This record gives sequence, structure tokens and C-alpha cells, in this order.
Amino acid sequence: MMAVPFVQDWDLVQTLGEGAYGEVRLLVNRKTEEAVAVKVVDTSRAADCPENIKKEVCINKMLNHEGIVRFYGHRREGSIQYLFLEYCSGGELFDRIEPDIGMPEADAQKFFQQLLAGVEYLHSLGITHRDIKPENLLLDDRDNLKISDFGLATVFRHHGRERKLAKVCGTLPYVAPELLSCKEFRAEPVDIWACGIVLTAMLAGELPWDQPGESYQEYSDWMQKKTYLSPWKKIDAAPLSLLAKILMHNPEKRFTVPQIKSDRWFSKVFRRGVKRALALASDSVGSLSKQTRSDMDLSPIRNGRSDEQVRFSTSQPDPVTGSSSWEHSSPNFDSMVQQISFSQPACPDHMLLGSQLLGTPGSSQNPWQRLVKRMTRFFTKVDANLSYTSLIEVCQKMGFMWKKSCTNQVTVTTTDRRNTKLIFKVHLLEMDERILLDFRLSKGDGLEFKRIFLKIRRELSDIISNQKVSLPVI
Ligand code: ADE
Repeated sequence: MMAVPFVQDWDLVQTLGEGAYGEVRLLVNRKTEEAVAVKVVDTSRAADCPENIKKEVCINKMLNHEGIVRFYGHRREGSIQYLFLEYCSGGELFDRIEPDIGMPEADAQKFFQQLLAGVEYLHSLGITHRDIKPENLLLDDRDNLKISDFGLATVFRHHGRERKLAKVCGTLPYVAPELLSCKEFRAEPVDIWACGIVLTAMLAGELPWDQPGESYQEYSDWMQKKTYLSPWKKIDAAPLSLLAKILMHNPEKRFTVPQIKSDRWFSKVFRRGVKRALALASDSVGSLSKQTRSDMDLSPIRNGRSDEQVRFSTSQPDPVTGSSSWEHSSPNFDSMVQQISFSQPACPDHMLLGSQLLGTPGSSQNPWQRLVKRMTRFFTKVDANLSYTSLIEVCQKMGFMWKKSCTNQVTVTTTDRRNTKLIFKVHLLEMDERILLDFRLSKGDGLEFKRIFLKIRRELSDIISNQKVSLPVI
């Protein structure tokens, strides 16, 4: 196969996400415009990390499915591990969930079907994800769901022999009850349970309980079938009946993947509304993004697909099952790693300008940044300094702790209504001579983060520009 001639000049465009492991960043090739996500893990930060990352790489190499984020390869530089992954420009599923509302039932069904196809594939290989939640479910440029982050995944079936699991891991509101109450439990029903919680979040915009313990009121209400309470009362009878089979306390009675697939609501054909059909007809690629967006979604909306976008999606390297094949099918990672190692700016989001520079014209973002769909951001109609001081004032008024973490970034720390720590970052960007306030969750519950975002947005309404965050035609 021909070598790819344009392999240098990978730009670290922005941080896509961060977690306890490290960060995921977006790399874009200046010449070919290929976009790749790179997960950067500092293995010296935890004693068991080198082993964990080895397992994550090993599991990633086994995977090849449209419902799973593609793994292109990995590289190690000292204690830093780089995992090169398919870039999902649609962002996280949780960005499509409107707090306390959810999303249209038809969209939730489509995402749930895709989630289940991915989970069925994983289970067919004997792999369990163990941390299914909307933050780990990404969307590509066509709004197709991709399961991401195999940092907690493990093998539960090998050569046809299943082993029970004992390790308590995952995210409390999404974990199955047996994981908290039994010494050993089967892997598959635990993933299925988490899918049920994701479906609840998509249909009601809230999580049903902090954890599925009998001492938790919301959980015991559910076990007593009090579906006249929230979130269940917001959910239609057909999907609720499916949820009752999935969120079954006893894992032996819980629905399996084939049973879910034969559920009536699961395969119900949703009729498109006239508005929806018209919108789709005018969208050459049939992206559902316009319809799934709520009024709180201020992020760019594309009018069909530009040439760049076509190039972007088709230029994603082919999947590989071993690191030796990347030279043929994917971008040159040696040059990427060099780029990361040697030209990484002190503040990684180097395209963001310091407040003193925010007035500089001509610093608009490149197409990749414009394509990232996010809902937790808005433009202001005032200058950078006033945007910054107004944000700080609101944080103080709301009793949040804040600290300037970079010239153009504020880190905010608070607790949510469940009394759980919530940390998020607000980046101030200059875009088309306006100031964009971009909020990103660092730690905590995604839905709570969005509730707080909405409160801040309400408080700042006087300085918020009514203009939508519009996408310039590329
Ligand atoms: N966030 C974490 N991983 C990502 C990916 N592969 N694409 C886009 N955003 C991400």
C-alpha cells in the first residue's frame, strides 16, 4: 500500500475531555486534515497504571465494530502512553440530553439500539465495558453512537468459559444492585443494567437514584413499582415497560440482549414529523443533529456536509487489530508523538487567547474546532474582561470556588444537589471577534453539570448575545 505522503504537522487542536487517567486531545493534520483523538496517560501517576493501560490497549486491539470507537494504535514515550483513537466530532451523548427533559423518544430509541448493538458485540467477544454511561458514549459526524473508553473493561468469557466478576467498579448511579450487594456477579447483566439507566436518562433527563441500594428511597420506590413518581412518570408506557424488564433487581430475571431486541418498543418504527422530514430532506446526508437539538443547544449547526467534512469522515484510517499495520492504514504516529512531545505548549489549548489578546482580529478557529458540537457554551455581547469579571461575580454569588487556571480559563469547584463534588472549566475564546464562554466538565455528574450551566447562563443573560453560535460555511 502507498505510504501517506503528508504525515507531519499534527496540530494539537484542543482538549476533548479529561479524567482521572489524563486527557483526550484532538489532533488534526495540517495538510491532510485528518482528525484523530489521542488519549494521553501518564502511567507514573498510579502504581497499577502501566498494567491497566496495557489491558486497555490489549482490549482495544480486539475490537472492530461500527458501534465502538476505533483504535488506531499506541505509542509510549517514557511514562507517557498515547492511545490513538477515532475522533467523534458529535461529542458525548450526554450533550444531547436536556436536563429534566431528555430527548425525543425516537432519538433515544435510535441511540439505544446502537448502544445495544455495541454491547452485544462486546459480549460476543467475552468483553464487558463496566462503565457504560452517557459520558462514555460518543457520537460521530452522522450522530452514530460509539462506545468509548475501555479503561475499566475486562474479559469475562475465554474459550467459552465464563467467569464471575468480583471487582466493584463503574459509576454509582449506573451500577447494578448485585455489584453492591454480592461478592460475585455475572458481567453481562451489569452492562445491561447500565444501558437501562442510560435509556432512563435519555427519556427523562435525570438519573433515577444515586445508587441502587434498598436504603435509597428512589430505588425502593422503583422496586415497589411507584411509576407515578419522577423520572418514570415522564416516560411513555411502552419504553417504561421495557425499562421495567431491564432495571430488574434480580440479574437472573433481567432481560438479556436478545430479549431486549424482541421488545415491542425497541423495534417500533417512529413516524417522522413533517418538520423533521422536511429538515431531513434539505439535509443531503440526513444528519439528525438539527432535530435532536434542543433550544438550549447553542452550538453550530451544519447545512449539509461540506467537502471538508466528507474528507474528514472518509479519511479516518481503517481499523487495525495490531499496531504493526498502522503505517499502511493510518496517519504516521511517530510524527504525531514528536509533535506532542516537542511542541506542546504550556497551556495546551494554545489556540485560546489570553484576555489581553482577546481583541485581536483574525484569530478565528480552524474548521475542526468549529465542527465540535457542544451545548454548554454561549457568546457574550461584551468584551473579554467584562465577560470574565461577570462570570467570576456569578460564581461568587452562587457560592462556587473558582480559580484562574490558565490565562483564559477558570476552574470552578462546587458540589451538586447530591452533595457530590463537581469541577468544571470555563474557557474564554475569541471567535469571530466575539467572546465565547465554553464550559467543560472535569469531574462529577454530567447532568448536574448541565443544570448548573443553565443556572449560570440565566444569571448572565444580560451579557449573553442572542445570536446563536453559528457555523461559518467552510
Ligand atoms: N472525548 C474522548 N474521546 C473522544 C473521541 N475519541 N472523540 C471525541 N471526543 C472524545
